[in-house]
Amino acid sequence: MDKMNALIVGGTSGLGLELGLLFAEEYRVFITGRHDPGKGGLSCTILDLSAERRELGSKLDALLASIPSIDLLVYAAGFSQQGLLESVDDAEIAAMTSVGLVAPSMLIQRILRKQNELPALIAVTSTSQWTPRPHEPIYTAVKAGLGMLGNSLSLDPKLGKVLVAAPAGMATPFWRKGGRDVTGMLDAPWVARQIIGQFHGDYRYRFVRILRDPRRVEVGETRRE
Ligand SMILES: NC(=O)c1ccc[n+]([C@@H]2O[C@H](COP(=O)([O-])OP(=O)(O)OC[C@H]3O[C@@H](n4cnc5c(N)ncnc54)[C@H](OP(=O)(O)O)[C@@H]3O)[C@@H](O)[C@H]2O)c1
Repeated sequence: MDKMNALIVGGTSGLGLELGLLFAEEYRVFITGRHDPGKGGLSCTILDLSAERRELGSKLDALLASIPSIDLLVYAAGFSQQGLLESVDDAEIAAMTSVGLVAPSMLIQRILRKQNELPALIAVTSTSQWTPRPHEPIYTAVKAGLGMLGNSLSLDPKLGKVLVAAPAGMATPFWRKGGRDVTGMLDAPWVARQIIGQFHGDYRYRFVRILRDPRRVEVGETRRE
């Protein structure tokens, strides 16, 4: 039987890459990021999501024109940005809002226009979705926004099912700048397995917190209508 198609935005590293490797058993997996990890079986498109709106729109159009209709979109792209708001410049604010919220909105809009449906969406947020952090004001804002984008879209009949997955700190290249001690953080393969476990099942919307100390999964909400 033909495999279904999954697009993993932010699938070139860390959690997105682990999800890609696991989903490859069920799906033909297309990944995007700014570098190609060279994993056989995952078809990679280089796509920088921090571009200005018009350029971003053209890049997203080109991406969707180059791949078949997708059955599952995983939005896992994100990066760390540390600093009080007054220390972050305009370009950094634009990059964070673009990668975290504008790009997923523009991408899903284009998928719905192209296919008229999106059978499944997984949006990767963070504990920053509900935890205020003075040194991550834009990051926390876009993660809260992405969570609500997924929740609102789950009410659109063109969306089959939506999983919003909010992990705690993970030991991934996310922390490569800044020298954060990642001891005790979650490992991405374990988090990916929890997300896939929570993805399967009959629902329209689910929100899960994937936490540490001790590591565990808490289902915040499941909606079947
Ligand atoms: N690590 C943590 O502690 C943690 C905790 C909670 C939530 N999260 C979230 O989990 C998700 C996965 O993060 P991770 O820990 O797996 O980090 P990661 O290893 O750094 O992976 C991040 C992914 O996002 C892509 N990306 C980043 N900036 C991009 C840009 N400007 N344009 C296009 N793609 C971009 C990266 O592509 P390239 O590598 O090819 O540039 C990579 O594929 C992110 O949404 C992150 O916010 C992380």
